[in-house]
Amino acid sequence: MAVDLVVDHASETYSEALMISLAATPFPHRHLLGIEDLSADEITALLDLSDTYVDLNRRPEKKLGRLRGRTQINLFFETSTRTKTSFELAGKRLGADVINMSVEGSAIKKGETLIDTAMTLNAMQPDVMVIRHSDSGAADLLSQKVNGSVINAGDGSHAHPTQALLDALTIRRRLGQLQGLTVAICGDILHSRVARSNIQLLGKMGALVRVVAPPTLLPAAVDRLGVEVHHDMVSGLKNVDIVMMLRLQLERMKGAFVPSIREYYRYYGLDRDKLAHAKPDALIMHPGPMNRGVEIDTEVADDIHRSVIREQVEMGVAVRMACLDALVHRTLERPAEAASQ
Ligand code: NCD
Repeated sequence: MAVDLVVDHASETYSEALMISLAATPFPHRHLLGIEDLSADEITALLDLSDTYVDLNRRPEKKLGRLRGRTQINLFFETSTRTKTSFELAGKRLGADVINMSVEGSAIKKGETLIDTAMTLNAMQPDVMVIRHSDSGAADLLSQKVNGSVINAGDGSHAHPTQALLDALTIRRRLGQLQGLTVAICGDILHSRVARSNIQLLGKMGALVRVVAPPTLLPAAVDRLGVEVHHDMVSGLKNVDIVMMLRLQLERMKGAFVPSIREYYRYYGLDRDKLAHAKPDALIMHPGPMNRGVEIDTEVADDIHRSVIREQVEMGVAVRMACLDALVHRTLERPAEAASQ
């Protein structure tokens, strides 16, 4: 990468040095609501820019002025650890003023609707609103009401685009590319926005996606998603490059979808025996939060050679910086050598 990272002065100087060798490509999107809005080239460019931010985040001095003077509101109607923290860090590292709103401390508890809240916050002129909500379509609705950009940080079981981007970045940095890989997404596909966004992104980038789950945890029209469907881990994991495990999204389940947690772990929990069916160097991923002993065994989750679960968290900050940068500037300033390809 032709980016000069050896600058030890004030952040502004560093900012200029970092971006000087980047060539801009247009990013004609106001919002990031789902992966379907992005082309394969735009995804590649976002990942290239994210790589630059990974380098920045590993330096002692992590701050740029790219979003100086801009206001970012994080509006989280559902609990979140990783996503909320990383959006906050991402905005701050780019120099934005970041406000965190959570339902507990807001008028939502007093009965204000999503739209009323959105209009109130919109009146304060935020440049970006990051929203997480339990209803599918909430981010889209918000985007129709506000003047700034909206980023979907997870809406119901619908979409979680920045998670799919950070997963892609993690894979690309480990294995070099996404094209031609086989990825098994295992567990509660039915309720998972992570699965939906990953299926779209990986498909666009030329990876083969398998879903592995009991029939009760698959959506009705799963064959229309362009994936291979497996009901058992032995056939599902056979020769895959990536094993992506999902949490049982109990908060979205109305009724019993699995006979018992013990039974589920026995048939679908990732342990050494099941992992042995994947390629010998297959990577283990999980978006978090993990339920050890439910969908994944502790030994496998903590395997320093195979598990990239912590790396996913690190990539999350960089990817969210790239998304904020791209939406606010409507361009992707990516490394010169990538732009010339
Ligand atoms: C996921 C989410 O919230 O959709 N987590 C995350 O963003 N890191 C997955 C989950 O909650 O299981």
